[in-house]
Amino acid sequence: MSVAIKAENLTKRYGDLVAVDHINFEVQKGEIFGFLGPNGAGKSTTTRMLIGISIPTEGTAQVMGFDIRRQSVRAKELMGIVTDVSNVYTQLTAWQNLIFTGKLYDIPKSERESRAKELLQLFGLFERRNDNVEGFSKGMRRRLCIAMALMNKSSILFLDEPTVGLDVQSSLIIRNLVKKLNSEGLTVFVTTHNMEEANQMCDRVAIINNGKIEAIDTPEMLKSAIKKLQVIEVSFVGSNGDLTSELKKIQEVTDVTKNGDKYRLNTENVPQALSNVWGFSKKKGLTINTLNTLSPTLEDVFVELTGIQPEIRPPKTQRGQD
Ligand SMILES: Nc1ncnc2c1ncn2[C@@H]1O[C@H](COP(=O)(O)OP(=O)(O)OP(=O)(O)O)[C@@H](O)[C@H]1O
Ligand SMILES: [Mg+2]
Repeated sequence: MSVAIKAENLTKRYGDLVAVDHINFEVQKGEIFGFLGPNGAGKSTTTRMLIGISIPTEGTAQVMGFDIRRQSVRAKELMGIVTDVSNVYTQLTAWQNLIFTGKLYDIPKSERESRAKELLQLFGLFERRNDNVEGFSKGMRRRLCIAMALMNKSSILFLDEPTVGLDVQSSLIIRNLVKKLNSEGLTVFVTTHNMEEANQMCDRVAIINNGKIEAIDTPEMLKSAIKKLQVIEVSFVGSNGDLTSELKKIQEVTDVTKNGDKYRLNTENVPQALSNVWGFSKKKGLTINTLNTLSPTLEDVFVELTGIQPEIRPPKTQRGQD
């Protein structure tokens, strides 16, 4: 069996609000699978259903072959969970937090101590193991949370916004750790609203908006699927007036915008458009100063698919009871 997560018509309603709307997807074992979407898209709600703390209104899912409703205990044994709220005990030391977690999982004493030591070393916290977590930075707390989630030798790790609120360096440390753990066989389901994070970490990404999945693919395929977003940027030597309307007449160029001394030309056929721009400059006696092709970013894909700028959707309702 190579499927780690299989969601079928998974749905969550809160009153009239459909927070997660009949979503279907599969995550393969060994993948880092990203759920990318703006605030309120339904990422945490999906995660909470998959980890068994929120009951689906409709639909079903299996995690590691176990049904999340009927076999949630079996499924949970294989899960490491890092939710969007930090669950470290600040009055305890890093060591005590890990040992306490080990006890919760019923791990025998010697094993939990060796596991705690191993994880503290891996997460760069061993030197600080006897310090109270109260004095830890956000990044250190987040690392400790992930270490705690791995105490039970999980085979699938759920991470809800692992780097939100962290600086660049702490985020990088966490991403690299996750990638290292993944290379050793851990399957990872990660939610993020950070395009760059999804781009850097994930083997495949589902773009979720308004509770619906808009697209699922590798970051590169998502980018190349948006062919019409391919852009050529050109500038010419000297001032030649506004060339926008003339550039628009070039074959294979679908649109032109002027940005300062540069023109951005949209095209669905970069090689042909490049050659045509070259021909245009010769014919007009213009000298090309700079010529670049710009690939779409995951952010471009996101905006194209959802029709919205990331991060601007206000929450629809106040949080209530589950
Ligand atoms: N317990 C709840 N009661 C009522 N509405 C809820 C509850 N939990 C979530 N919602 C609503 O469901 C929608 C999806 O919320 P969710 O937390 O899953 O979004 P998200 O994608 O994780 O967003 P964020 O990026 O802000 O974490 C939102 O409109 C939210 O207000
Ligand atoms: Mg969330």
